[in-house]
Amino acid sequence: MKLLFGITLLLTAAVFGLGQGKRGENTRGSGDVEHGKYIVQNVAQCIQCHTPRDEKGALLMSRLMTGAPIPFRSPFPDEEWAFEAPRISGMPGYSEEDGVRLLTQGIARSGQRPRPPMPRFGMTEQDARDVVAYLKSIE
Ligand code: HEC
Repeated sequence: MKLLFGITLLLTAAVFGLGQGKRGENTRGSGDVEHGKYIVQNVAQCIQCHTPRDEKGALLMSRLMTGAPIPFRSPFPDEEWAFEAPRISGMPGYSEEDGVRLLTQGIARSGQRPRPPMPRFGMTEQDARDVVAYLKSIE
């Protein structure tokens, strides 16, 4: 059942990816989904923290960006630290502008800085829009 769910999710992601040009701009925002995917998976490495892993440590691609535990402590004992990276697939609760602010200035929707190990990103506005567009596309 779990596997079936995983496959359905993957297929959904694939269909959304292919249907890119057809879906309305407003649901996705103005970013470039493919470029956003590249940043998330290969450059900013969001995928490494926000995607759960199997018992061998391999990323569970069927549960892409659905949130994951952070299985290590801060190297600095007094530092505030988050042991859970939340779901960012679909960017729940985040408008495009909220996402752009987080990724360009490091300020979350709450007005606070997320705790480490979430990096403080200083992306260009266009890169931020592309990342948000991709994350919203894999809801
Ligand atoms: C090194 C691990 C790591 C990486 C890399 C990382 N994150 Fe995070 N992220 C976290 C953790 C941990 C939290 C939870 C922070 C907290 O609870 O204060 C978080 C929180 C968030 C949140 C929620 C912020 C809020 O409080 O509203 C968003 C959205 C997010 N990350 C997006 C991203 C994106 C997009 C990328 C890549 C561009 C990324 N993260 C890369 C670990 C990471």
